[in-house]
Amino acid sequence: MAVDPLIELRDVNKYFGELHVLHDVSLTVGRGEVVVVIGPSGSGKSTLCRAINRLEPIASGTITLDGRPLPEEGRSLAELRSEVGMVFQSFNLFAHKTVLQNVSLGQVKVRRRTKEEAGRRSRELLDRVGLADQADKYPAQLSGGQQQRVAIARALAMDPKALLFDEPTSALDPEMINEVLEVMRQLARDGMTMVVVTHEMGFARSAANRVLFMADGRIVEDRTPEEFFTDPRSDRAKDFLSKILKH
Ligand SMILES: Nc1ncnc2c1ncn2[C@@H]1O[C@H](COP(=O)(O)OP(=O)(O)OP(=O)(O)O)[C@@H](O)[C@H]1O
Ligand SMILES: [Mg+2]
Repeated sequence: MAVDPLIELRDVNKYFGELHVLHDVSLTVGRGEVVVVIGPSGSGKSTLCRAINRLEPIASGTITLDGRPLPEEGRSLAELRSEVGMVFQSFNLFAHKTVLQNVSLGQVKVRRRTKEEAGRRSRELLDRVGLADQADKYPAQLSGGQQQRVAIARALAMDPKALLFDEPTSALDPEMINEVLEVMRQLARDGMTMVVVTHEMGFARSAANRVLFMADGRIVEDRTPEEFFTDPRSDRAKDFLSKILKH
């Protein structure tokens, strides 16, 4: 079990109308831990991430971040959102702002940094994701892999306690997937707490401390990658693995 819990979910339930999408989900993510979430389409992976970031309200249960319950709304919610960064499949960069401006914006607005401080920090982070020379370009002038690395730099710019990734490489051409995964591996090595929804099993094997397998809104398995990939227990996981490892 995690020694120092950062994200804790207890008996979380979530519905979309009649549809029960998170079913008594309990989960502890320790500080510095990398948890990869996999499972079939519709199993609730994105909803789980969105619930952790309060982009989706939950019906019952509790979610705490660093010992504090998630606020319902208002200013403390905005603060919470800035403490948990999120990176989506679609990069969601501002098209009419430069790379540097994209990474700086939240720092000025939410973190109240001066433009100069924000710019300095942005350049550091762009350097960290290998894009030091792209600061003055616009998103459309970058490849998908580069845009996703800007999105990661932007999330890091808020100094988040944790990062959530929802299929960060699914929209990328194959040759760009690795440059994004490599940045994520480096973050993991640097001790960032990460929850990563991905179909990249190589990443799960090499970077995850734990693999969660979800099906029908439930966490069906919560194992080390080694255990999960060599000896999945549930039929659902066996079936899922046989399908995705075939191609
Ligand atoms: N805004 C919404 N309104 C109604 N139903 C929704 C909404 N968002 C998701 N759902 C439903 O909730 C269930 C879980 O969806 P979710 O997006 O969390 O699955 P997922 O595991 O991320 O799937 P995928 O692998 O396709 O991304 C699905 O049945 C989905 O159709
Ligand atoms: Mg999803």
